[in-house]
Order: sequence, then C-alpha cells, then structure tokens
Amino acid sequence: MGLGGGIAAYKTLELIRRLREAGASIIPVATEAALQFVTGVTLQALSGTPLRNALFAPLEADGMDHIRLAREADLVIVAPATADLLARMAQGQADDLLTALLLARRGPVLVAPAMNPAMWEHPATRRNVTTLQEDGIHFIGPEPGAMACGESGTGRMAEPATIQESARRILTPKILAGRRLLITAGPTREELDPVRFISNHSSGKMGWELTLAALRAGAQVELIHGPVTLPPPMGALLHPVTSACQMLDATLNAWLGTANGPRCDAAILTAAVADYRPEQRQHDKIKKTDATSAPHLTLTQNPDILAMLSAWSGVRPRDGRPRVIVGFAAETGDALARGHAKRIRKGCDLLAINDVTAPGCGFGTDTNGVTLIGRDGREEVWPLQSKERVAERLIAAVAELVSHPRSL
Ligand code: PMT
Repeated sequence: MGLGGGIAAYKTLELIRRLREAGASIIPVATEAALQFVTGVTLQALSGTPLRNALFAPLEADGMDHIRLAREADLVIVAPATADLLARMAQGQADDLLTALLLARRGPVLVAPAMNPAMWEHPATRRNVTTLQEDGIHFIGPEPGAMACGESGTGRMAEPATIQESARRILTPKILAGRRLLITAGPTREELDPVRFISNHSSGKMGWELTLAALRAGAQVELIHGPVTLPPPMGALLHPVTSACQMLDATLNAWLGTANGPRCDAAILTAAVADYRPEQRQHDKIKKTDATSAPHLTLTQNPDILAMLSAWSGVRPRDGRPRVIVGFAAETGDALARGHAKRIRKGCDLLAINDVTAPGCGFGTDTNGVTLIGRDGREEVWPLQSKERVAERLIAAVAELVSHPRSL
C-alpha cells in the first residue's frame, strides 16, 4: 500500500483496515509527504507491519527492499496518488522507496488519484495519466464532490469500498472475459392503484452478488432489477423496472439484442417476479366506502419470463456458442420435488432451488443454501454459505457451461 502526501491519506487507513479484514496482508510504504498527514505508528498499528519509507535505511540486510517489495506483492495500490506522485511515476523517477519499487514492479498496480480539481484537469496531469494508462497502470477515480480545499469538482479519492472492489476485480481470474451476462434481481411491484401494490420480500442481494461476481470474472453485465435499495454495482449496465411486464420487455430486449449489437451469452434470473397482477389498475385511489366491506381483487397471470427465454434459446445461434439459462426457485415445503417439476416446466439449463423457509436462506439474508438441478436431473447441494460464495460458485459453473457446449 503506497501512500502519497495528500489529505485523502486518512481514507487509506480505512482501506487498510477493510483489506486486512478481507484476509489481505498489507505492507505500508509512505512518501515523506504522506507522513505529514498520517503517522508511521498509525500505519504500522493498522497494517500490523512496520512502515517502509526509506530507500537508504532498509529493514532488509541486503538493502534490496524496493526489489523484494515490487516482486512479492500480488498487487501494489497507490492511494492517495498526488499530482506530483503521478508525474514522478510517469517520468520513471525512482528517488524514494515508493517510486523505486513502482519502477521495479512487473505485476499489477492500482492507482487512486486525489488532488485539487484544477490540478487533475491540468494538461500536464492529463498527459501523465495517459502515459501511465498506456503503461498498463489501473486507475480508480477520482470522483466528483466537495474537496478539503473548499472547492468542488473532480478530484476526491475514490471511497475505500470502491478501491477494494477495484482491487478484487484486478486479482480475480477472468473466466468470463468477452462474455455478456443478463441478470435479473429484486421484486416486481404490481400496482392496484396510485398508492398500493402487490409485491414480495426480495431485497435483490442474490442478484447483486451474482452481478459483482460476473463483473470480477471479466463479463459485461446487463442488470435488470425491480425496486431495491442497494447501491449500483460499479460497471454494470442497469435497467431499473417496476412491474413484471416491464421486466419482460427489458429482459427480452437485452437477450435478443439488435441485429448487429451485442448479445448475451447467459442469463441468470434471480428476480422474484410476481406471478399475478391486478386485472385492472385503478386510476384513482380505491376508496373505503363503509366500515365492514372490502373490495374484491381480480388477478390475472403475468408472463413467465424464464419460460419465454428458454423457449427462444432452443434455437441455437449460428456461431454455435451455447446460451445458458439459469433460474432460481423460491420454494416452501417439498422444495426438491417441486424444483424438478419447475425446471422441466420452465425449460432452463440449471435451476437453483432455495427453500425460503429454511433459516438463513432466501429473502433478505446475506446467506443462502441452494440445490442445483441440471438438464439431466442431477442434483448438487450447496449448504448454507454467504450469497457472495454462492454467486462465485454459480458464476464458475456458468463459465464452464458457456465454454463447453457439450456439458449442457
Ligand atoms: O433478493 P434476495 O432477498 O437476495 O432473495 C433471493 C431470492 C429468494 C429472491 C432468490 O434466491 C430466488 O429464489 N429467486 C427466485 C424467486 C422466484 O420468483 O421464484 P419462482 O419459483 O416463483 O420462479 C422461478 C423462476 O422463474 C425464477 O428464476 C423467476 O425469476 C422466474 N419467473 C417467475 C415468475 C414469472 N412470472 N416469470 C419468471 O421469469
């Protein structure tokens, strides 16, 4: 973790804490200017490793600290990267430990710039950023917003969670590079009148984790989602919808694509689509007319998006690349027997059944337990684990299926 001399260095302390919590070991390397903003004691306490900051007073007996650090790290993050530090990196200078190790570095480097907006927009900084990008350096941010100097504009260092996600994406193997995925998530809402609707408890978390896992694996993701309160996953193409009919339109558009436009290689439908909608949406709020009676609702069936996609995919495209369709099933009671029948009825390649009455499974939780059923009827049980882990495993399974048509 390289730190340059900027006020955003205080956010790097939070980044170090988050990365350690996620299992990383961190070696802090600070420039002299960085130590004007945070102390060596703080960096050492948070990282659990002595601070490195001197080129000529190395901790290592052979004096090769800059080479060893450059070689041994899985990733070098520079946060904050000041205008001066970017300029020195672009020039290939090596006059302190951080720039020396960056010059000796062969593996990935992620840079999070932070500076006054005028400095970020200056032609010299623009040239330096272009040079570094051409050299293969990854950038995250800066972001627009209010600055410590009182101005506002683009120059704020990306938030620690964003830098952490960016680091994860760099380090994750790209098993879905060049692939495009369609993912649905969250509930749909079927309106009765301008103030009431029928819906369900889906939070969107399962679909969000799948989107993040797919993006980390190098895929492009079209995320079609109902009303949820989750922050948009960085880099996904979002299609917010409300009702099942809107979700159907958005899903078919993304799946079928245009004649020459990009087409999706796989679809994972985690959305809890309402099976029914009111036959008629009332234009005005339904009024309570007396103290005892209640209105009768007449419902009608919504289209089955998963069944329609599966029917389309029966026709294999001319390029011979298989298109994989995965459904989720929210079951109660005899989950497995119902799941087998549902997979056949909906015609998907894989169905992930979750018993939403089991503790820790289904709606709103951070964990899930699923049983996967394939076309051949084989079952694979994934016991209760984080939704993040379920997503990672399902994305690996999808990557396998899109690459090996015969396994379908
Ligand atoms: O969002 P979370 O809070 O994280 O919760 C996750 C989840 C429980 C919503 C998720 O894991 C899940 O089970 N999603 C599917 C919910 C569902 O609608 O199940 P279903 O058995 O009714 O539908 C089966 C499949 O058909 C699903 O892929 C669904 O998207 C699809 N479907 C359903 C009805 C419909 N009209 N059109 C559809 O495409």
